[in-house]
Amino acid sequence: MKDKLQKIKDDAVAAIKASEGLGALNDVRVNFLGKKGVLTSVLKGMKDVAPEDRPAVGQMVNEAREAIENLIEDTKKKMEAAELEKQLEDEVIDVTLPAKKSICGHRHPNIITLEEVENIFIGMGYEVVEGPEVEYDYYNFEALNIPANHPAKDEQDTFYINDKIVLRTQTSSVQARIMEQGKLPIRILSPGRAFRSDEVDATHSPSFHQIEGLVIDKGITFADLKGTLEEFAKKLYGEDTKVKFRPHHFPFTEPSAEVDVTCFKCKGKGCRFCKNSGWVEILGCGMVHPNVLRMSGIDPEVYQGFAFGVGLERITLFKYEIDDMRLLYENDTRFLRQF
Ligand code: DAH
Repeated sequence: MKDKLQKIKDDAVAAIKASEGLGALNDVRVNFLGKKGVLTSVLKGMKDVAPEDRPAVGQMVNEAREAIENLIEDTKKKMEAAELEKQLEDEVIDVTLPAKKSICGHRHPNIITLEEVENIFIGMGYEVVEGPEVEYDYYNFEALNIPANHPAKDEQDTFYINDKIVLRTQTSSVQARIMEQGKLPIRILSPGRAFRSDEVDATHSPSFHQIEGLVIDKGITFADLKGTLEEFAKKLYGEDTKVKFRPHHFPFTEPSAEVDVTCFKCKGKGCRFCKNSGWVEILGCGMVHPNVLRMSGIDPEVYQGFAFGVGLERITLFKYEIDDMRLLYENDTRFLRQF
């Protein structure tokens, strides 16, 4: 019996040493110490042992069990420690590795230009205000001296929500909203989105941006308009930029003009950008029509003013020498990253 128990112990020690991992170790425990284990079956054979030998044999079995149990417990602790060690090693963070670069967006060329324009006018004492994109027909047309039967209201140009409400076709709609508040004098710049029922091409989009300017005060003349817009053009395109006022017609200004600047690309010599004329048109402007002032409750005998409207995309395309407006709307970061 002694030899048999020694053999069981030796087998158990060998099996414990050979076991790789906690799972295998547990199998060894079950094999030797479990209910149907090797050592238990020895105990079950006690009935064949002579009664006087039983205490001694029992003690031997217990010693063997204890020895195996202790070894299993020790081994288990070592394995757990080793496993933890390995886990810590695997999970070490190498702080010297280069970080993942996050993709960082940046300002759209339209916004870069807009902020530049805003800064120029803020420097001249203007306040930046905004108006609604979904607008009453009244502010978009009527209050700007564009009566119901005016061709500018043609359905081909305008997105109608209903009879009285449209997607504004111009930021000029902000003019009457500001004037009827009755706070004078007025010196505002109003940038924003405008909409027209246009097909998309290199120079048109159903949704685009304008920057509106409005000045109302006593004694404002066309000279103020000219001086202001010349200063604006020079700040935006450079001191050597020349400005030309071409007579034009807008229902809400009288007289009206369009402003051309020397082509930024060829400096006036003529190139494909300016269609060989040496000039490019950048805005519409004029002296606020007396009807417009009157409709908003301002006495044209006391107050005068000027207004202008700049196409934001237009001046951005010029500034960056981009020849297709669609590039501004595609959100292709390969394009946008260049600015
Ligand atoms: N709203 C005009 C347009 O969309 C541009 C414009 C012209 C605005 C003359 C003005 C102005 O304020 O005085 O074509």
